[in-house]
Amino acid sequence: MATNWTPESWKQYEARQMPDYPDAAALANATGELGHYPPLVFAGEARALTADLARVAEGKAFLLQGGDCAESFAEFHPNNIRDTFRVILQMAVVLTYASKLPIVKVGRMAGQFAKPRSAPTEELGGVSLPSYRGDIVNDIAFETEARQPDPQRLIKAYNQSAATLNLLRAFAQGGYANLHQVHAWTLDFMGRSPWAQQYSQVAERIGDALDFMAACGINPETVPQLNGTSFFTSHEALLLPYEQALTRQDSLTGGWYDTSAHFLWIGDRTRFEGSAHVEYLRGIGNPIGLKCGPSLDPDVLLRLLDTLDPGREPGRITLITRYGHDQIEKHLPALVRAVKREGRPVVWSCDPMHGNVVKAANGYKTRPFDRILAEVRGFFAVHRAEGTHGGGIHAEMTGQNVTECTGGAIAITEQSLADRYHTHCDPRLNAGQSIELAFLLAEMLNQEMREREKDAA
Ligand code: PEP
Ligand code: CO
Repeated sequence: MATNWTPESWKQYEARQMPDYPDAAALANATGELGHYPPLVFAGEARALTADLARVAEGKAFLLQGGDCAESFAEFHPNNIRDTFRVILQMAVVLTYASKLPIVKVGRMAGQFAKPRSAPTEELGGVSLPSYRGDIVNDIAFETEARQPDPQRLIKAYNQSAATLNLLRAFAQGGYANLHQVHAWTLDFMGRSPWAQQYSQVAERIGDALDFMAACGINPETVPQLNGTSFFTSHEALLLPYEQALTRQDSLTGGWYDTSAHFLWIGDRTRFEGSAHVEYLRGIGNPIGLKCGPSLDPDVLLRLLDTLDPGREPGRITLITRYGHDQIEKHLPALVRAVKREGRPVVWSCDPMHGNVVKAANGYKTRPFDRILAEVRGFFAVHRAEGTHGGGIHAEMTGQNVTECTGGAIAITEQSLADRYHTHCDPRLNAGQSIELAFLLAEMLNQEMREREKDAA
């Protein structure tokens, strides 16, 4: 267990990106109340995810992590949860089929509310107000009252997370995720896309394989695992008073866990040495992620890993790189070499979203799909050259047919961004673009597997 650590030792460190709550007593009331609410996840589940991620680190599985940039109170609806879950399953089907690797599925869901911002205030028409920091902190409306951080939002976010997780658990284990459903998870909104047809072909072949297995006596009755799938939750551990309130001691091992999600990550803006976020996360037993952007020096990374993973536990650390399509091949090799030299068993995951934001001529914040794909290609090219496993993808995506990222097979133009631009923060891939990304990933993984076989021969 981490020495000199308590769930609130982070308060002795520099906490960036934290809201200024005008009423400290109201915040203490809200966190006190959360402190006796039930945990959302169990320590044993977090350990199961660490074990799955250890297999990714070894090159024997692939991590698929995706969901909203920011969940919102307004978009809280069972259909939204179902549709994002379904697209993640569809992507997993494509990836498993192509790579023959197990896919570890983790949603940016059921708790992904708090957002880091580039400036503490936002100016509009000569008025300056606190920036929007996610629905768990304040309201997106540009009004004085709305932008005040309100501690009651912690309770609302907890409740929405609990209900979301409850539905996800039902979907994952209640039969919806049964592989026999691959056809039933329709792709009607993708009808015109060439990828819809490709997906149908994969689904058909999986159907054939399942029929064959059933004829051999392998079916959901004899092998219950066929009925469900494991699905984990994650979010950025940004709002530390919330995370602290859900930090609990595991009765089995005595270790501390953040029970707000299975997996927590530290953002690119809060992963500096001396950070309160690093201090908080070093003490919890969950698997954790670290965002790695262009400003991260390899030596600093190694020192952060000493702090966050002194025991070098496989699966404990996922490095989520987010450089930008034209930066990744410049920066990533040095990081990979440093980590390899130290023999650290990390998962390498590619976030091709956060380094590829551009402003469209009409003012919309967007991400060109071809840049996203280019970063993914660059990520795999570096890992191929370094002999490491390109182990995961981290995407901002939704099952809805939104128009937030430009490009893709059903091309979204800058002009059409206004049609269905619903995100509360960054632009997300829509369902069609997500499936298209899965096919590119499948191709990359397939190539990695073929090269491995060649090397082994
Ligand atoms: C995010 O994942 O939403 C995010 C803010 O990423 P980063 O910390 O990498 O900028
Ligand atoms: Co984002």
